[in-house]
This record gives sequence, structure tokens and C-alpha cells, in this order.
Amino acid sequence: MKREDLLALLSDMSLEEKIMQLVQVPGQTYEESAAVTGLADMEKAEKSKYLAGSVLGLHGADKIIAIQKDYMQKHPHHIPLLFMLDVIHGHDTVFPCPLAQGATFDPEISRKAAEVQAKEASADGVQVTFSPMADLVRDARWGRVVESTGEDPYLNGLMAAAMVKGYQGDSIADKDHVAACVKHFAAYGAAEAGRDYNNCELSEHTLRDQYLHGYRRPISEGARLVMTSFNPLNGIPSSGNKWLMRDILRKEMGFNGVLISDWGAIGEMVDWGFAEDLKDAAKLAMDAGVDIDMCADSYSDYLDSLIKEGNVKEELLDEAVLRVLELKNDLGLFEDPYHGASAERYKEVSFSPESRELALDAVRKSLVLLENRNNALPLNSKSIALIGPYVDEKNTQSSWAITCDADKNVTLRTAFEEAFKETDTKIKYSAGCTLLDNDSDLGFTTYHSDTFDEDNDRLLAEALEIANSADTVVLCLGESAFQSGESTSKTRITLPEVQLRLFNEICAKGKKLITLIFTGRPLELNEIADKSDAVLICWRPGTESGHGICDVVTGKVSPQGKLPMSFPWYVGQEPLYYNRFNTGRPKPVEGDTIFTTRYLDCPNEARYPFGYGLTYSDFEISEVVLDKEKLTKSNPDDKITATVKVSNVGDKCATQTVQLYIRDMVGSTVRPIKELKGFKKITLKPGESAEISFAITDDMLKFWTAANIYDSEPGKFSVFVGFDSATENSQEFELLD
Ligand code: BGC
Repeated sequence: MKREDLLALLSDMSLEEKIMQLVQVPGQTYEESAAVTGLADMEKAEKSKYLAGSVLGLHGADKIIAIQKDYMQKHPHHIPLLFMLDVIHGHDTVFPCPLAQGATFDPEISRKAAEVQAKEASADGVQVTFSPMADLVRDARWGRVVESTGEDPYLNGLMAAAMVKGYQGDSIADKDHVAACVKHFAAYGAAEAGRDYNNCELSEHTLRDQYLHGYRRPISEGARLVMTSFNPLNGIPSSGNKWLMRDILRKEMGFNGVLISDWGAIGEMVDWGFAEDLKDAAKLAMDAGVDIDMCADSYSDYLDSLIKEGNVKEELLDEAVLRVLELKNDLGLFEDPYHGASAERYKEVSFSPESRELALDAVRKSLVLLENRNNALPLNSKSIALIGPYVDEKNTQSSWAITCDADKNVTLRTAFEEAFKETDTKIKYSAGCTLLDNDSDLGFTTYHSDTFDEDNDRLLAEALEIANSADTVVLCLGESAFQSGESTSKTRITLPEVQLRLFNEICAKGKKLITLIFTGRPLELNEIADKSDAVLICWRPGTESGHGICDVVTGKVSPQGKLPMSFPWYVGQEPLYYNRFNTGRPKPVEGDTIFTTRYLDCPNEARYPFGYGLTYSDFEISEVVLDKEKLTKSNPDDKITATVKVSNVGDKCATQTVQLYIRDMVGSTVRPIKELKGFKKITLKPGESAEISFAITDDMLKFWTAANIYDSEPGKFSVFVGFDSATENSQEFELLD
């Protein structure tokens, strides 16, 4: 439809029709016969069903085609309904969770994974996905870190932009693609104390310099929607924050797509004590420029009177409705309201061998090897005991793979059986314990109980017996799928007691011990890391879990993942992130170790820092060589080339991720001790070396200055090149005016 036709359509719509374009209803509206108690309710249910502009949570081509047909017939202007869903790391084929994708340091994998998700979801009737989540996360207590790509704004921006590219392709009208929604704007990851839905207090400087960064790239990439966050930012809930939405998001960042609230977030402004009632909340959200009210009744019930009373201008409404209509039009819904949905096509494209191959590649690249004493890995044993609750656990995805059937995920046992079928290696299997301390249904664990039920005693005895007869134990532990995700904040980021008991009892056997950890967040791993011969972080890997992990553990491929979030020694260090400030008292003064920035009982640094991860080989890196020491700001083409020589001095082919960090030594505001500005992956055979170069440009030196502008400031800089964020391999250079 041409723009003038859209405008004509808009001017022909009734006030009620227009308002309802801004209303998103939950899927049940179309699935269940609404429980109506009277005529008024019945009218409301009908109005929602046949006038609401969009619906959340439905999929299934036949179902969606039937709903759309019925809806369009009844809708006064036959405007198609828009179908939205959270397709986060898989629709049918499950890719590793976003945090694991961060660990790949490979945006191209995320782009391709998003492309597959778009193809599967679109054939299944979905037109918009609520992904990517570009929130910066610094606190492992917050369960939603599993949905982010980690603690670095630069990496987050790259990954989220790649996902948008994959979801949307060249045109969202293409039936293989869907529209993407960047969320949760803004700073949802800064929830106080890591408690979900909590307040966020951030200076404007930190907000702009650190937190907004990750959203910028995916928005510039053309993401068609943005979602507001649940949290207030410095006292103003996002869904009513005019400055954040109109000045920053729309004017500064140039976003001109659809802004949707998070689930019920407009209504929640009442609970926050920011809006008097739903009517007030609706006015605040309209003023802030929120186009769609997700699953609260504020727009549907109160926009009409707000407009008639003159408290919300009809032009504001028209602007928002036009954005929704434009999105529908750009998706091609006026021509094909099903956007290519077809049960046959879904069968054809979903869970294809190519998609599974990509998922396998993603798993292999996302696993992070934390410890590997005496080359305990790759496995080299003729008698293995595979023990732990994850041996047979199929739910290795996150709680956000909502449409994916966990039964299709390849377990570790299946993969090991396949891998060792025609060998003389003996493998025995045992669960060893339950996944959780008690068998409460949702994984709300009872921690630190020291009474274990008989079932667990029996499982433990069985496991110890098979450990006796093996020379290597591969222990498969971890959090459950429901211990990370929304509303899963934790004050203790350890494994369930029942798993720790199993770990300690197995340790006492003195066998070679390889520990695999499934997790959606950084964990405290001290005892496990100290006592295991090797520790591999597996995240929430999805469909190809077993195969990908088995390939790494057996040495078919070397691990190459790098931590996208710091793993602390203790939870008391949280929030913990590598790009912190130096403080005024960074190091103990000789003879006086008291008054420095430190903990009495733990280092300041992470146990495993951002960017860290071992391979099966050993790498060396040369000093950083700069081709010159001065960069001129006034010359936009000027650059300094930083070069290192990287050598594989071990005995295995492996891939290393060479990381470039920069520190601005003096700034008009205090600058972090290091910031990631680039990375390159290199695969080297034993004995091979390669030169890796990075171009340093003025753009990479920019930050939010004290003048509140994004700019660089002349002065001294340090450039670091290494294999993780703790590297001290550096040189200095200067930026001249
Ligand atoms: C979450 C969003 C999600 C939405 C719709 C909310 O509870 O915060 O991330 O997109 O639900 O499912």
C-alpha cells in the first residue's frame, strides 16, 4: 500500500478503531472463550478480539490463518492483525542462549541463527519477535543475564545488530523474515541488587556512556520496534519517560519505528506510584510516545475519554497509529495478511539439517574452558563414568525457548553413546542426584538443606559405584532451565546443595575429574574449579547440546569460547565488570596495605574475567607494536595500526580470540581501566604464527564527555592487545588536536 493510501485509511478510521490499533492482547483472547459475566464484558471481549491491533503469544500456521481470516472479515476496515512472539534463541531449532552467543565473540553466528529463527517462526505465523535484548548486564544475581550477550557495550551492540540483520534480512516483507524488537529500553540490566523489576539509578553520564551503547547499533541497523523496560530510571518509569523516549530514543538515536511497552508496564506505573490510575498511566505513556500498550487495559479503556476531554491530542494518537499501520504495511500484510505462514512450509523449513549444523557450530564455539590442569581435556581414557543430573537432561535450553520442544535436544548420554559406539572405551552412566535440592515443580530451590531424600541417597550410591570402576569421571552439573530468565534473581549463585554433595563425594574418589556446568549466569565455582582437573562452561546450549559438548570434550574441536561476563569469586563482588574505574587507591602502598580499595576476604578482580577462556593449545603473543605514536583528531582519515604476533606454541590446532582494549588515561570524566574496542579470531596449527593488526581511529576514542557530548579528547591513551580483559600487554599513544 502506498503512503497516501495509508493516510487515507487512517483518516477514514473511527476513534475507537484507531485506539485499538495501539492495543495488544494476549493470545488467550483468540484461544479461549472469554469468561464473560455480563453484556458489558461481552462487548469488551468482542472489541478486544476484533479491533485489537496486535496479539502476543500465538503461533501455528493453521491457527493463525484461521484467526486472521475471521478477524479481517469482522474488522470494519479489514486491517490485518499483527502476530508477535518472543523468539529469543530458537523457534524450533534451539541455538545456544544469548549469553552463550556472546561467548562466541562471533556476530556472524548470531546473524545466521536469527535468520533461521525468522524463517521457522515466520512460516509458523509469527511476524514480529521480541528480540534482541541489548541490555548491558553487570550483575550475575539478575536472572535475565541469560538473555543478554553480556557485560560489554561494544560486544552487545555488535551481537544485537547482527541479530536484527538476521531477523529482518533485506526486507521484512520477505516471508522468510520477521520484524525485530530491541529491548528493554532502557537500562533494565541495572536493576538494583540484581532483583528483577527493581529500580535503576544511573547518572546520565553512565547511562549514555555505558548503558545506551548496546541499543544504538541494533537501532541503527533498522530494528523496526523497541520495547520499554519495566524499571524506572532515576525515578521515572520508562513507559512514562518522555525525555528517554522522545528526546533520546527518537530524536537522538533517530528511531522512527514502533515503540511497544513491556507486558503491562504502562499499568505498572500505578503500582510504582507514578500514575494515579490507569487513565493517568495511559496519558503519561502517550505523552512519552509509547505506541502499543502490551497487555494492560490503559489505552483500550481510557484513551477515548482522554482524547475527548482534550487531555491527549488526537494528533498524538494518529502519529502512533500511523507507525503501527506502517509496520503492517512494510511487513506486506495488506497484500498477504499471513506473511507466508503455512503448515507445509513450516514442516519444510523447521529443524532442517542445515539449521542443526549451524546450531552445532554455535554450541562448539560457545563453550568456555575455565580450567584444564595437566591437559585433562580432551578426554583420553578407556574407562569413563558420565555422572550427573545433566547426563540425561533434555531441557538444556533456557526458559525463553518457549515454542521449542526440549525433548528434541540431544542429551549428553546420546552423544557419548554415538561417539564411542565403535571404540573400546567403556562408558557408564548415572544421574548421581536430582537437578534440584527438592523436587518442587518450578525449580525454586531450597538451598543449604542437609537432608537429602532416599532417592538422592540411592542415586549417589549408584554414581559412586560406577566412578569406582572408571579412571575418568565427567560430571555434568548445573542450574535448571528455570533458575535463570525472567523473575529468577538469586542471592546465592552456587549450584544446588544436592549437586555439591555429589561433587564432593566424587572428588573423594580421586579420579580424573572433568566438570561440565550448564548455566544461564556466572556462578561461584571456587570449590569446583579448585578440585576439578578441567571445567567447561556449557551455558544453555539447546538442540545440539550433547553433540557440541561431546565434540569439544573428546577433542574433535578445540574450545574457543570467551566469557561474555565476569565470573566472581563470591557473589558479594556483584555487580562485577571488567570495565570498571581505577579508584584513587588502586594498589596497596608498600608497608601500608590497609587503606586501599579492596575486600578483606577476596580479590577485587573476577575469578575468571571477561574475555577469558582456554583452548587445547598454548598461545603466545608478542609485545604490541604501533606504526606511530600520535593520532591527529582533525584528520578524519588518520589511524594508528597496532600489531601483535600470535603463535600457537602448543600441540593442537586451535582458535584464539585476540582482543583489543583501550584506556583513555585522562578524561573530562573518569574513564574505565579498559574498554573492548575490537577483536579478531585466528585459527592456528601447532607451530604456526600470524600477525594480527587493528586500526585505531579517533572514533574508537569517543565517549560521553563532561560537556555531555560524544567526542574524543586529546591526550594519552593505552592500547592493550591480549587473550582476555586482564591482559597487561600494552603500548601508549597520544591523540593530538
Ligand atoms: C518480558 C519481555 C517479553 C514480554 C512478552 C515480558 O514479561 O519482560 O522481555 O518480551 O514479556 O513476552
